[in-house]
Amino acid sequence: MNVEERIETMDLLRKGKFKEKMDEEAVDFTSSMDFDQWIFLHDLNVDRVHLLMLKKQGIINENTCREILKAIDMVEKEGFESLERMEDVHIAKETKILEIVGELGGALHSGRSRNDEVATCLRMASRDSLLKIFSSLLKLREVILEISKENLETLIPGYTHLQHAQPTTLAHHLLAHASALRRDAERIKECFRRVNQSPLGSAALVSTSLPIDRNFTASLLGFDSIIENSMDAISSRDFALECMGVCSNLMISLSRIAEELILWSTSEFQFVKIGDAYVSTSSIMPQKRNPDVAELIRAKCGTVIGSLISSLSIVKSLPLSYNRDLQEITSHLERVLDITEKSCEMLARMLRSCEFNKERMKEEAEKEFTTATDLAEFFVMRGIPFRKAYQIVSKFIAEGGDFESLKELMRQELGKELMSEEEFQELMKVDGSIERRGNGGPSRSSCLKMIENERRALEEDRKWFEEKKKKIESSLKNLRRLCEEVVK
Ligand code: ARG
Repeated sequence: MNVEERIETMDLLRKGKFKEKMDEEAVDFTSSMDFDQWIFLHDLNVDRVHLLMLKKQGIINENTCREILKAIDMVEKEGFESLERMEDVHIAKETKILEIVGELGGALHSGRSRNDEVATCLRMASRDSLLKIFSSLLKLREVILEISKENLETLIPGYTHLQHAQPTTLAHHLLAHASALRRDAERIKECFRRVNQSPLGSAALVSTSLPIDRNFTASLLGFDSIIENSMDAISSRDFALECMGVCSNLMISLSRIAEELILWSTSEFQFVKIGDAYVSTSSIMPQKRNPDVAELIRAKCGTVIGSLISSLSIVKSLPLSYNRDLQEITSHLERVLDITEKSCEMLARMLRSCEFNKERMKEEAEKEFTTATDLAEFFVMRGIPFRKAYQIVSKFIAEGGDFESLKELMRQELGKELMSEEEFQELMKVDGSIERRGNGGPSRSSCLKMIENERRALEEDRKWFEEKKKKIESSLKNLRRLCEEVVK
């Protein structure tokens, strides 16, 4: 092949500029095609809206717009797999459009760069994933509230340092997780607000001299607003880092629940039996019920955190504006969003399958003087400074914990018997201890109040989700309708 022929066979960007094709290995090394499938359909919608805008602004004529729109439909029909493996989906798709439409197809990229194109696609893919995660999180929170409602009086030891601390109820324990998950949902909503802004029209970095309309494209793509500064729009990835940060927090919440299910399903605890559908068994030990789903949620949390750290490190110190380094974040972002959604979904299903062993939990809740603090607090209510009361109860427990020794201690330390045996017996009862707890504690009434508050938040979140979903869907439907009007 002579130089002229070689130049002719080059891709649309290199033709006429370089004397050599890119090294095959270098193409492979730099290509984002492996993870661009995630943004393929979004990219086609970005093309569509951009074309409609170019036509509306009189930058291209109706015929050009129609021919390219038709080609885009064909590319969509043939699918991502039919694209040639090139530098990225944007070039591969544009090449295909040029093959179909001919030179006219070149009008598509007027006033645009891959820099604003990819940033727009990534934001569209991320917002969809955030909504999916939000939806499975709604499901998980619902399951937790259901189980809590069923277990308002189910005793369970409360732990600190994984040592029996004070008795509580399963409802109280699970509602703690529900509160954390509600905050995770709040973080998704906050993050969504910053993700759903359009960079489109920023072109390479300083916008374009063509008279484009950024608000038109933003609105048809379902964005809430545009990102004003064109350099910021194409070079910032804090939205991606934030998505991964939010997901990391959520995955940590999930992994802590997963860890408890793993622990509680051991023969040492026997607090819970995870449903058959969510355990696996051993290839050699027929008796085994392994909590693999929970273990993998716990492990995937590590993967997600790893991706966040990788991405933070990639963006750190990058000079403005676009650098190809940014491409390296895409696979992390996609992986994190995907793992988080699936983990939420799996945990919701697995939790629903759990059978809690109330007898075992009660048995453990009643062990080891877990109501000792109640005894000390009784003395406090009789005017004894807490530290003094604490020391009396400590000694009493060290001496074996029967009432006679407490009586003796009261006489020695307080000079009078402030507690009758009846009162003592009452204070030792675990269910009584629970009902004595105040606001936010495990008493039935305070757990019911927490369930009610969580339910209210859940309803509000459901509304938020429906609104956001509907807005995006109807914008994109509108876009398709406007395209059809041109193509017909
Ligand atoms: N594949 C690239 C990415 O993901 C698209 C943008 C390329 N822009 C460029 N100037 N090379 O970031």
